[in-house]
Amino acid sequence: MVPRLFEELEEVLMTNLFPTHRIIVREARDVYVYDVDGREYLDFMTVVTSATLGHGIPEVRDAVIETVGRLASGNGYNWYTVELLEAARAVASLFPPGFGRVHFRVSGSEGVELAVKLAKRHVRRSTAIFFTGGYHGRTYYTTTFHGARRPEYGPLPPGVLMAPYPYPYRCPFGPMRPEECAAAAVEAVEHMVNYAAAGDVCCIVVEPIQGVGGIVVPPQNFFEGLKRVARDYGILLIVDEVQTGMGRTGTVWAYEQFDLAPDLVVAAKGLAGGLPASAVVARRDVADSQQPGDDHSTFGGSPVLMAAVKATVEYLARNRETLLGNARRMGQYAMKRLWELYDKHPLIGEVRGMGLLIGIELVRDRRTKEPATRETSSICLDHALRRGLLVVPSGWRGNVIRFAPPLTVRQEHVDRAVDILDEVIGAVEREVGVGQ
Ligand SMILES: Cc1ncc(COP(=O)(O)O)c(C=O)c1O
Repeated sequence: MVPRLFEELEEVLMTNLFPTHRIIVREARDVYVYDVDGREYLDFMTVVTSATLGHGIPEVRDAVIETVGRLASGNGYNWYTVELLEAARAVASLFPPGFGRVHFRVSGSEGVELAVKLAKRHVRRSTAIFFTGGYHGRTYYTTTFHGARRPEYGPLPPGVLMAPYPYPYRCPFGPMRPEECAAAAVEAVEHMVNYAAAGDVCCIVVEPIQGVGGIVVPPQNFFEGLKRVARDYGILLIVDEVQTGMGRTGTVWAYEQFDLAPDLVVAAKGLAGGLPASAVVARRDVADSQQPGDDHSTFGGSPVLMAAVKATVEYLARNRETLLGNARRMGQYAMKRLWELYDKHPLIGEVRGMGLLIGIELVRDRRTKEPATRETSSICLDHALRRGLLVVPSGWRGNVIRFAPPLTVRQEHVDRAVDILDEVIGAVEREVGVGQ
């Protein structure tokens, strides 16, 4: 049945949608995913890290069912709903009291676009700075600052500058200590503000940890430097927490761990328990810079999605210590076990991450750091899949295994995932002759 279903799907769908994993999924619960044949998989990729709090949270399911039976349509454009109020209050409660106002959209990309529009209106300048290796979505504007810019879609919108991101393992300025790399990156941003954009910069948009870009964790002084540049030049800091938020790194937002003071935050992915909702939270004066009626989308703020947001945020708040504590504890445990694999497998170049957002960078040679792209693909999409573990390659060279289970993961799951990786990395090393 499954091969026929693949054929039927690929006959009717555009070829631009091509799943990383050749499975057809029917059901998912907590840390597990089941395909149409009933096969069980341990999910350490969590739908591009969106099932942050686990698949199928019962409270979210119940809230969605109750709301959809009563009021399926609506947004904040034609009328308000109580669901919109409650979801906005719930999201605002995840920020310091009085911090900001909330606007809901459907996807993370839309959220990032709205954040930049707000910054342009508030600061009244036209250029936005993004970082190489970053990822903010695939709408037309967000494609412009895609980590791998795609000129074939040109002309791309102007007013976008790409600054080097401090990727300590592969510093764009050459080999140097992580803190030096971060200082050079801050200097590059300041240079761009002064010279490339002649002072016309309204915002800096940054992921606290680059997710799609390969779980790249910058040193603390990078964020201290960005804060200073933003303050000195009257530039807004937009923190894209789409992948890092909702507890993924062990705090509700990753920016808390870097002591960053954002003017705007974009959240999505784990925000609605797997349903499509994003939120932009902006400092009040920044939020008020657009006129009433300036922005909306047909499904942004829909009551069913708002019920899901409220139920998800309440679930996180109720289980805050358990979930965040588990993210930190299991994250540390996984890092320890993965560094043990480093000692055993020459294919592993580095293990890095924060909480339950971990990357395992694979290289053919630890000295040259040649990316082991084909090997990573074979490990994730063939060997691990056959052993029932879902992990996905990330990074612009496709050589970083993203290890991102739900926050409900238990030690036995981490042990099983690490044991499978141990086995399959060894199998691929033997296949390609690394470390033999
Ligand atoms: C950091 C970050 N920002 C934005 C997005 C885009 O979100 P969406 O796919 O919901 O548009 C993603 C998606 O992976 C992301 O990782």
